[in-house]
Amino acid sequence: MTDGATFAIQPNANPIPASERAVRLENPGFGTVFTDHMAMIRYQAEKGWHDAQVTARGPLSLDPASAVLHYAQEIFEGMKAYRTPAGDAVLFRPDANAARFRESARRMAMPELPDELFVGAVEALVNIDRDWIPAVEGGSLYLRPFMFASEVFLGVKPSSEYLFLVIASSVGAYFKGGKDAVTVWVSSDYTRAAPGGTGAAKCGGNYAAGLIAQAQASENGCDQVVFLDAVERRYVEELGGMNIFFVFDDGSMLTPPLGTVLPGITRASVMTMARDKGVEVREQLYSMEDWRTDAASGRLKEVFACGTAAVITAIGEVRGTEHGFTIGNGGTGPVTRALRDELTGIQRGTRPDPYGWVKKVG
Ligand code: PLP
Ligand code: COI
Repeated sequence: MTDGATFAIQPNANPIPASERAVRLENPGFGTVFTDHMAMIRYQAEKGWHDAQVTARGPLSLDPASAVLHYAQEIFEGMKAYRTPAGDAVLFRPDANAARFRESARRMAMPELPDELFVGAVEALVNIDRDWIPAVEGGSLYLRPFMFASEVFLGVKPSSEYLFLVIASSVGAYFKGGKDAVTVWVSSDYTRAAPGGTGAAKCGGNYAAGLIAQAQASENGCDQVVFLDAVERRYVEELGGMNIFFVFDDGSMLTPPLGTVLPGITRASVMTMARDKGVEVREQLYSMEDWRTDAASGRLKEVFACGTAAVITAIGEVRGTEHGFTIGNGGTGPVTRALRDELTGIQRGTRPDPYGWVKKVG
């Protein structure tokens, strides 16, 4: 059995030369620039978690009957490491990602990875690949912990073997061109999650099921899909890869309640920061009819998407087969901007961290 301290570190014998790394970090975009290493831990029912290591990043060899390739028993996380002005590498609320990973594992009938192993693997990777945190404005090291069923067996049952890995990608803005505000597509054809389903788990299958709607969004010139509830097809749930907040003219805010949406760590952080300023934040159902009416009347002032990849990004325009309207002047409003400045300031160590959210690596 492995505890948090026992990662075998085998540095990459052929790392990318520093000059080439500098070129790749100039304008990294999202999700295409990868670092030199990966962390890995194995699980077998009879042995538990074992063989924790950090090695050169490289292809995996998988048997074609590996269970994940057939029944999609897979979960993942998304988190970022930032470089502070003092030169430290820091993580934002890694314990929250570890806890959500355990929740996702439980829903998908997978073994729960102890938090100290989850955080230990992430820290070990950030430590060895810290030079890959881009210095460009808005740059960070996006970390992708994930776990999948590796048992070689075609029967339908929870796997008895798993691989947990962490890979890292140097990133800039998620939306191309670092847009001021994004346009969203309301999907009337597809839903993302039903009561009793897997909407609250971060499992790959949720994203696979949403891709067709994301493709329709792109065909219609939109950046993200808005999914509605699966029962009435009426209430706003979340976007394909981020949560959503509405800001009203009385200063109050609303976000859809948990249940079928992903319990975003950015969502929870925004609620804490806003409530701390005395802002009323309601976790409440909000229908498409209300969204359209409130945007038209001016009662609705701002709408924003939030998540690790998206940070806090204004939603300027809403489109769909039955929809087409703008929010405010279609750009980033003052509440959205203030929350983004505060959140990114805490994450990047340029503002005080009153909540103890930031954890130094190494
Ligand atoms: N909702 C979905 C479907 C997501 O994929 C994400 C991103 O991880 C979020 C919400 C936001 O979660 P977090 O703020 O923890 O990144
Ligand atoms: C994240 O924000 O970490 C996600 O997983 C969402 C995805 C759009 C990259």
